[in-house]
Amino acid sequence: MDVSTLDIQIEKAPTSKIDQVDFDNLAFGSVFSDHMLVCDYRNGAWEFPKIMPYGPISLEPSAKIFHYGQSIFEGMKAYKDVDGGVWLFRPLDNHKRLNISASRMAIPELPEAYFMEGLRTLLQLDEKWIPTTEGSSMYIRPFMFASGKGLHASPADAYKFIIALAPSGSYFSGTVKVLIEEKYSRSANGGVGYAKAGGNYAGQFYPTQLAKEKGYQQVVWTDDNTHEYIEEAGAMNIFVRIGDTLITGPTSDRILDGITRKSILQITETKGIKTEVRKLSVTEVVEAAKNGTLKEMFGTGTAAVVSPISGFGHRGQDYGLPELDDSYASMLKKTIMDIQYNRAEDPFGWRYSVIG
Ligand code: PLP
Ligand code: COI
Repeated sequence: MDVSTLDIQIEKAPTSKIDQVDFDNLAFGSVFSDHMLVCDYRNGAWEFPKIMPYGPISLEPSAKIFHYGQSIFEGMKAYKDVDGGVWLFRPLDNHKRLNISASRMAIPELPEAYFMEGLRTLLQLDEKWIPTTEGSSMYIRPFMFASGKGLHASPADAYKFIIALAPSGSYFSGTVKVLIEEKYSRSANGGVGYAKAGGNYAGQFYPTQLAKEKGYQQVVWTDDNTHEYIEEAGAMNIFVRIGDTLITGPTSDRILDGITRKSILQITETKGIKTEVRKLSVTEVVEAAKNGTLKEMFGTGTAAVVSPISGFGHRGQDYGLPELDDSYASMLKKTIMDIQYNRAEDPFGWRYSVIG
């Protein structure tokens, strides 16, 4: 498909809501820009995307999303540099992953040109909404769901793909204390853990609520079979530093293949940080905490960037982590953010210009 010939139809919002937004105090994902991109799948094909005012959409009560949960999403950010240039970070990887999720949930794949050109046009239209305050960015939420009606438990015949834009501050306010979960599971072999399916998150809410009641912000999921190996957190992949070695678990069909995670792995390789991608047992982490070699734990993700973990709970025992001046987490966060905000060279070719 020739991207340059895509001329996306735009229905502009009659008035802008931008004056109602306090850009100095942005929460995560709670205000939305003036417009959204909408694309419908009907009669066996994706129709041309349209841009319209951001607002409620109408669905039949029998739309299959409500009954059978065919729903997937992506998480991305747009970053504005000091000269007003706007950048995305590895957006083609998000498109690829959207279609991996789509296939797993029996949702039709979306053409790359609709995704990329839709994003570009929407961001150009709502450019003024992209925040410039330190630590803020335009969080981008592309999502797709079954809008087709009927109660037969089978894939729908109609879908909607929408992109909404949310100028956002940081995902976590304050430090993150995690609980290593041994009863509930996030995903299982042969399941949908590797897909960014809405239900993967719904299933985590109850165990995370229980963890919150005990004073933890996130659950660290362990493998569903033995609960002995560390997998990932609610919205993040996990890294653990023991001594000077950084360790993260391998991806599998139980784990989301995070774009931040794989970027961190490339950065540590070029920086000469010893990094291992291997199974990491809870016993090893608890032992390291006890003998003082556990130096850092942090989560990685688009929303969370690199979020240091201040401590973890395991079987009723709390383990604290030291506060390091020269942590890998802060170095990696700075390195990745400098690339994202066009403050540093991009040796990996990750930045993607949308407004230049
Ligand atoms: N794991 C889960 C379950 C997530 O929801 C996310 C967030 O997208 C991640 C990991 C990190 O992925 P990425 O770095 O691509 O945002
Ligand atoms: C992201 O990091 O973009 C995500 O999609 C995680 C989400 C649950 C906030």
